[in-house]
Amino acid sequence: AEVTGVQTCALPICSLSLRAAFAAAMLRSRFSRALSTAARRPIVGGNWKCNPASASKLPELIANINACDTSKCDVYVCPTPLHVALCTGKFTNGAQLAPQNANFAGCGAYTGEMAAEQMVDMGIKWCLIGHSERRGEFGLPTPKESNELIADTKLGYLLSKGINVILAIGEPLPVREQGIDKVLEFCVEQLKPAVAHFKAAGADKIVIAYEPVWSIGTGVTASPEQAQETHAALRMWLAANVSPAFADAVRIQYGGSANAKNAPDLSAQPDVDGFLVGGASLKPEFADIVAAIAAAK
Ligand code: PGA
Repeated sequence: AEVTGVQTCALPICSLSLRAAFAAAMLRSRFSRALSTAARRPIVGGNWKCNPASASKLPELIANINACDTSKCDVYVCPTPLHVALCTGKFTNGAQLAPQNANFAGCGAYTGEMAAEQMVDMGIKWCLIGHSERRGEFGLPTPKESNELIADTKLGYLLSKGINVILAIGEPLPVREQGIDKVLEFCVEQLKPAVAHFKAAGADKIVIAYEPVWSIGTGVTASPEQAQETHAALRMWLAANVSPAFADAVRIQYGGSANAKNAPDLSAQPDVDGFLVGGASLKPEFADIVAAIAAAK
């Protein structure tokens, strides 16, 4: 396994502004000794979104997940809310269920919502929040979930009930077009409300899924260099604002048109710890993505 963490983030510096590069270099040197060199266990999630149309397809999709070798990689699956219970107890390789959303107020008069208490009761240990399609990016006129609602209220609520959280973040295209400094600025706003929770919970209970909105479902994957640059910048920010130990240990997944073809090159990047996979998680190639990152780390 490669030595990973903040101290290995030399790659992104070239495209940061000089001032940011200097600050980043200071951060690296300041934290390099404090960081452990422990390898992070990779983690790959399958986000089925609002699929499949028929529950009769579930055995096939579950078989794709059960075909994954999980000896060197954690796997989780996010079925549509209607199908979560139909998938309970069906995974033979330790793959975990992670609902695609949660409310923040528990059980009661919350029509259409899912409570962490219900997840705990069903033995569910993980939950995905903050997907860009919940942040108002799927083109439907549903209200957007704010950074504070997601990264403070929902995250804190889920953690308080003992549910681990995959927190999805990522920038839209107009932000990416302004360069890495603006991307970092945008993503940091999505992380800031979570800082106190990150500090209290520790890295074991958190996974960050970096998913640039422009690459989700578009077939336009971030290049390995773009993914590495962004993950490294996020990790540096986490080192400075949460703790070096948290930054070193927390797993940052890449998401956005990840597939069996691009997974090996992305997996080779030291700060890419896994994938959140949409479209390709509905296909047998999902197992190849898991194998690619397991082989690379
Ligand atoms: P995609 O979706 O792999 O289909 O781009 C990723 C995601 O939205 O989690």
